[in-house]
Amino acid sequence: MDKKCYITTPIYYASGDVHIGNSYSTVVCDVFARYHRQKNDDTYFLTGMDEHGQKIEEAAKKQNKTPQEFVDEVASRTKNLWQNLQITNNDFIRTSEERHTKVVQDIFEQLLRQDDIYLGTYEGNYCVPCESFFPKSQLNEDGTCPDCGRPTIKVKEESYFLRLKKYEKQLLDFIKANKDFIQPETRRNEVISFIEQGLEDLCVSRTSFKWGIPVKSNPKHVIYVWIDALANYLTALGYKSQDDSLYQKYWLNGDEVVHVVGKDILRFHAIYWPIMLMALNVPIRFKLYAHGWILMKEGKMSKSVGNIVYPNDVVNEYGLDSLRYYLVKEMPLGNDGIFTWERFIERYNVDLANDLGNLVSRSISMINKYFQGKVVKPNKSYFTYDDEILSLTKKVIETYQNDFNNFQFQNGLNIIWSYIDRANKYIDETSPWVLAKDESKKEELNDVMYHLYEMLRLISIMIEPVMPTSSKIILDELKVNEENRTISSLVFGKTLTGETIDKPIVLFKRLDIKEEIKKHEQ
Ligand code: MSP
Repeated sequence: MDKKCYITTPIYYASGDVHIGNSYSTVVCDVFARYHRQKNDDTYFLTGMDEHGQKIEEAAKKQNKTPQEFVDEVASRTKNLWQNLQITNNDFIRTSEERHTKVVQDIFEQLLRQDDIYLGTYEGNYCVPCESFFPKSQLNEDGTCPDCGRPTIKVKEESYFLRLKKYEKQLLDFIKANKDFIQPETRRNEVISFIEQGLEDLCVSRTSFKWGIPVKSNPKHVIYVWIDALANYLTALGYKSQDDSLYQKYWLNGDEVVHVVGKDILRFHAIYWPIMLMALNVPIRFKLYAHGWILMKEGKMSKSVGNIVYPNDVVNEYGLDSLRYYLVKEMPLGNDGIFTWERFIERYNVDLANDLGNLVSRSISMINKYFQGKVVKPNKSYFTYDDEILSLTKKVIETYQNDFNNFQFQNGLNIIWSYIDRANKYIDETSPWVLAKDESKKEELNDVMYHLYEMLRLISIMIEPVMPTSSKIILDELKVNEENRTISSLVFGKTLTGETIDKPIVLFKRLDIKEEIKKHEQ
């Protein structure tokens, strides 16, 4: 094993089902995890559910269920969803589990003992959908939430507070000294200027509802859901519990710890979380990658607009890889991306059915037709294109690895697709159907087929983190042995004598764009 990596998604509110917007964080983390496992890095991937808080208590009441019954159902649907999306998480933490609640209580008590948490009174507003406190000065003029624009409620209650002010300078120094702590840079700058305006101590308990983790020494208070939720990144590793070997391994002694978060929850992860760790005397080992939002034509996805798209619906109709591909391809990390059915179908037809799908079916049927399904490594090169392809391949693999190492998955896909284009062009340039007519050109023809075979093999390995299903289908069809599917075989020319391959199958059937759009407009 080369490196020890720990990657986490935000834990999703169990107030409702995950849609394609929030599933983006999980897909991106899965791409990271699969890529690092391919590289032989010891990778631990955590996701889970954020199950406490007023929002969930209210949602359960509406359905006449206890909060626990309600979150059990959502958690089980979410687990199933991740299975359908072939998410390779190692653990699924739920904040209502005892392994979590006990440790959160201990953390709270420790901070209380140290006087990093103190008792006071909170008077201000609270946004239930965002589970966020806002002093009057931060609200919109009409009293709505500055983050989501929805109405807030007035709160005046006895509360515990976490001393953020005390750690303000230490945090600022840390962020300034660690240039890559928050990525991309624009988000880092936002955080710096937010802190520079001065931090207020954070209210960390509520008394006006019940569904949360009680403060051990004063159980009429429940712990603020964000303090509860952020702690999941440590409780899942066994921090402060009898067996903390995962914490030792991946947090204290790991090489790379990554929290992937949407831009709307950056503040919590870039300010509250590191301050909690400083107070707990736990080293800040993580980096934050903040991504943008997937928007719809009308703007945000919302129940009231009725424009929510659920991942299972896309997968059932168009297959898993098309969804995973679209999410990664259409979202430059940091900026927003748009989901429209037009764009989705267009990417499906052009990138998947045409570019990749055609390359696979043309190549496989020619290898079958001209060489009964078997290629052999030629002992010299026959075309000037061959040298060009050899050096291009090296460059593509290097760029792909660089992009994937640096979380630039969209760029990585772009480079793979430019390689796919080159392979399609290579077929036109070498015109195998002409070579096939001339018996004396048999070796040249084999050379072309061999190049296509190898290019396809490399493409399939490179797309695996994003498109695991297609990758496996192509590699199986090409009868590539296990050894030549690994990252160390990501070199042109590894195949010596290919096995007899199967008949081509259709990976992505071209769609009639008008018909598909009509379906979704109904
Ligand atoms: N429970 C908190 C996170 C606690 S982590 C310690 C939460 N949950 S959430 O379910 O509301 O959101 C989970 C993630 O989904 C967030 O990163 C959020 O940014 C992301 N997204 C929600 N809608 C999204 C889109 N439309 N597009 C992309 N990501 C989106 O916040």
